[in-house]
Amino acid sequence: MTGTLHSALEPAGWDAAIISQFAWVMFGAGAVIFAAVMALLYLSLRRQERPARALLWIGGGGIAFPVVVLTALLGWSTWRSAQLAPQTSRDALTISVTAKMWWWEVRYHDPASGREIATANEIHIPVGRSVYLGLNSADVIHSLWVPSLAGKRDMVPGRVTGLTLRADKPGIYRGQCAEYCGAQHAKMALHVVALAPQEFEAWLARQAQPARPADNAILARGRAAFLEQRCQACHTIRGVAEGSRLGPDLTHVGSRMHIGAGTLRNHRDTLGGWIADPQAAKPGVFMPGSQDLDRDTLRALATYLEHLK
Ligand code: CUA
Repeated sequence: MTGTLHSALEPAGWDAAIISQFAWVMFGAGAVIFAAVMALLYLSLRRQERPARALLWIGGGGIAFPVVVLTALLGWSTWRSAQLAPQTSRDALTISVTAKMWWWEVRYHDPASGREIATANEIHIPVGRSVYLGLNSADVIHSLWVPSLAGKRDMVPGRVTGLTLRADKPGIYRGQCAEYCGAQHAKMALHVVALAPQEFEAWLARQAQPARPADNAILARGRAAFLEQRCQACHTIRGVAEGSRLGPDLTHVGSRMHIGAGTLRNHRDTLGGWIADPQAAKPGVFMPGSQDLDRDTLRALATYLEHLK
């Protein structure tokens, strides 16, 4: 699997390739015309007298040339735009993504179990297949942008929009909220993980499972701390405490690469630090801290969450 890309100049999907071609063609044409205009300006400043056929220069360079060039670019870009992926859920794998301040709730429908599976901040998709993201927002306007795969799409409260993605090769593609949405807009990242189709199926089947049992003393202590601290008021762990959708679903939180929407690498130590004082890592985040927890309980809770693969 290739490394994490976050670049509009390294397309790895159908729409992103077309968009980057637009950018290069427009940039190239603009650069050539800019250089030609600068050269003409230099020549005109060097000579004193009025040039021969001045009207021809004005009419040709000021009217005819832009009309021809802009019409050609407009025609080409209109033709090429028609080849962007159709924005439809037909024949596509549909995943629903809800933007919240400041993270992404990602929901799948598992055909095998008929169950809804919720995860956060990571969108796993199969390579080579069209994926339709049904997008909406729970609070303010956000915008989903995974530059290596597709263009941007605004996520507006009360309105469902959609974005078609297709990854051509396996990899991890970083995305970012692209619409200012409050204090932690900058720390509202996501990752699209493109897997071979059979790996994707295996991933989905694992995610459909309820949480792993807490089968030793430390894990049992961690699970008890989760309930005592009333974490379930905001977080669901399927099989332990279900119902709330305020914060990310933690059923398989240990399988994710990051916590805090790309803010920290996911590890027992960062989990512990986050639970104790999330405001230190992401000021303004809606999760309250638990600085009154004693060290051993905090460590047990972080160990339990890390084990929820
Ligand atoms: Cu969400 Cu910016």
